Amino acid sequence: MNAQLDEKIINPLGLIELDHCWQLVLCDALENIADQLPTTIDPRLYALTSEVLKKVISHHNMLEEEALFPVIIKHLDAESNLRNAVAQLKIEHETDGEHALEIAHELDRIAAGGLMANPEMIGYMLRGFFESLRRHINWENQTILPLAHELLSQNDLNSISNWIIHHPETFRCSRLLKELGRHIGHRDCPYQVPYIPKSEHSGDLKDTPSNDNI
Ligand SMILES: [Fe+2]
Ligand SMILES: [Fe+2]
Repeated sequence: MNAQLDEKIINPLGLIELDHCWQLVLCDALENIADQLPTTIDPRLYALTSEVLKKVISHHNMLEEEALFPVIIKHLDAESNLRNAVAQLKIEHETDGEHALEIAHELDRIAAGGLMANPEMIGYMLRGFFESLRRHINWENQTILPLAHELLSQNDLNSISNWIIHHPETFRCSRLLKELGRHIGHRDCPYQVPYIPKSEHSGDLKDTPSNDNI
């Protein structure tokens, strides 16, 4: 493991939280596209957004389902309602993943000069997706990540870090999100990491991946 990678994965929850912040920027980009249909078409914005939709959403969902959720679930009672909540999040991953690919396909087609036969329908698709993704991220930020900060042991965090080490595309996805953000004018993410437990709030965020480290 090299030093740079080591530094980035000191706090895997911080990495997930920062990706959530940048995914909210993706939602803003999709909202701008929807608001400007059918007139303003920025090919670079469409291409970047399409790439993010094709690569980042499914990878982030896989990280949560394969690495984060299992270590949370093992701390929950068999009757805990949170087990149902996690199952619901997985269903939303599947639906959002399918919609992300459909939208990416449409953006690619339009950017290549394809006819926009029904801009209202495309706007409807976009709005349905980013509104759902915002709700999903908000719920994870309000419930799942605080729970993770509360319940996970260092071994649990290490197991998430190990998953990330074996899936280096995690960092490529983070960079891609950031590239999209920069294209629409954000040097740093305009959203804040939403949850910092008191025990970790020591005045600086040295164990949280910074905007510049990803
Ligand atoms: Fe999720
Ligand atoms: Fe998430």
